Amino acid sequence: MNIKEILSAKVSQAMVAAGLPEDTNPAISLSNRPQFGDYQANGVMGAAKKLKTNPRELATKVVENLNLDGIAEKIELAGPGFINIHLDKAWLAANLNQISSDEKIGVAQRATPQTVVVDYSAPNLAKEMHVGHLRSTIIGDAVVRALEFRGDKVIRQNHMGDWGTQFGMLLAHLSDKLAENEVAETALADLENFYREAKVRFDDEEGFADRARDYVVKLQSGDAQCGRLWQQFIDISISHSEEIYAKLNVSLTREDIMGESAYNDDLNNVIDELMAKEIAVEDQGAKVVFIDEMANKDGEPSVFIVQKSGGGFLYATTDLSACRYRSGKLNADRIIIFTDARQALHFKQVEIVARKAGFLPEQVGYQHCPFGMMMGDDGKPFKTRTGGTIKLAELLDEAVVRASDLIKEKNPEISEDDLATISQKVGIGAVKFADLSKNRTSDYIFNWKTMLSFEGATAPYLQYAYSRIQSIFTKAGSSHALGEIKVVEAQEKALALKLLQLEDVLDAVISECTPNLLCNYLYELASLYMSFYEACPILKEGISEEVKASRLALCQLIANTLKQGLDILGIEVMERM
Ligand code: ARG
Repeated sequence: MNIKEILSAKVSQAMVAAGLPEDTNPAISLSNRPQFGDYQANGVMGAAKKLKTNPRELATKVVENLNLDGIAEKIELAGPGFINIHLDKAWLAANLNQISSDEKIGVAQRATPQTVVVDYSAPNLAKEMHVGHLRSTIIGDAVVRALEFRGDKVIRQNHMGDWGTQFGMLLAHLSDKLAENEVAETALADLENFYREAKVRFDDEEGFADRARDYVVKLQSGDAQCGRLWQQFIDISISHSEEIYAKLNVSLTREDIMGESAYNDDLNNVIDELMAKEIAVEDQGAKVVFIDEMANKDGEPSVFIVQKSGGGFLYATTDLSACRYRSGKLNADRIIIFTDARQALHFKQVEIVARKAGFLPEQVGYQHCPFGMMMGDDGKPFKTRTGGTIKLAELLDEAVVRASDLIKEKNPEISEDDLATISQKVGIGAVKFADLSKNRTSDYIFNWKTMLSFEGATAPYLQYAYSRIQSIFTKAGSSHALGEIKVVEAQEKALALKLLQLEDVLDAVISECTPNLLCNYLYELASLYMSFYEACPILKEGISEEVKASRLALCQLIANTLKQGLDILGIEVMERM
């Protein structure tokens, strides 16, 4: 159900009937003030300019040919040629009733689903997951769920950093610990610490760096004992990430892991092909692609190293191989990658080279979606007080504790069990919503107080709106009947318009990978519900059964939409809080 599309088709028809070319854009948009109708068609002005004709006259002709019987109650011409459309309340009500009984609440399933490969989360296994991976993980997961809800086929790819020279020093250090009879799980309980210890030895201890390098060579040449050690390390580190995924209610599983190491065997082929096609050239012993398309202002091409002079491969080489795998083996129609903005240049280079090499056919979309940084209250990158990286697990635990304090304060009688479940959902929800609701590409300030507030665009506010609706049903009792929805009052009409926009909003989320649009939408929906609740009594004495049943049904639809919308964001609701 997409009102914009319906109106676009109708206005287009009228434009053609009025003599305009078939491809004229009707430019349908939501009106920002009720006196201008609910939707506007603003395309006449542009068309008139092209034809050098009077826009007002042209608009009159379009309106004469515009048949919105049963859809609009009024069509008005305004200003130089705006067409204001006031939708019919009965039509809105009929649509609401229809989507009420639809499992997907009116969001149509794609006629031709795309195969979308989404690369997100992708922590580096040598270390603990940090806040940058938090953003990648939750933004990626929200987009993935939106795509699936709309009916696309999604293939998750967790491109974990599980390979590279730093594993040499880590494995050397691990093997020493095991030799001292320590178990791997305890040794690797704190990855940050483990990494630090290994690094100190690498820098200071005689002979250790050589051993570390030796381990790298062994690992890359497929030495079995070294491979087992590596596997142990990787497994434990992955389970750290999995703990975080579980806390975050994120849909990634082990099956979605396709780490850097998985491409190892293909990297030689990638280089051979690039050389054979003369895309890469030898330069001071290294293999390099000079990218003229990205030349600087002095005309010097951008330099993209694909193999180091010692023969080692790079992050870049792996990403080229990944392009080929994803389009060739996974049959992707579209590839989406979420990382912080500092990698923008890298992915631009990867795309250009992969397209030239034929690893990424023209028709396959390649979209790097950068995001900004999470900042502390001081406006500087989010760090611990001593300047260390913040451990995600600890951050999430703190969120739950803070939510728990807040809820206990509001509801001192609450049972321990309820308190535990609710603070989990509220605390994690708050962190996620605060992040997802920001414009993806900007930096944002992480602030406990605002994210946990019950006012404003926050998870607690939305969760509260949901549980408030549930309490109406509890009050109404088990015998309450949901009736046919009637749209009568202004607040009901505003809700109707909002509820019927879900598909449109999801499409925008999906095309630009911007979950913040869904966050805004849900916040607006909850706010409209609050005004409706003030203005339109439901269970009050004197309200007719028919009105009561209609309003209860409207409440039900709002609750379903809030729940579904939050579910796409990976945020849970509760019956009471
Ligand atoms: N592991 C990388 C990092 O932490 C992100 C990987 C993103 N995906 C990719 N195909 N390069 O920055």
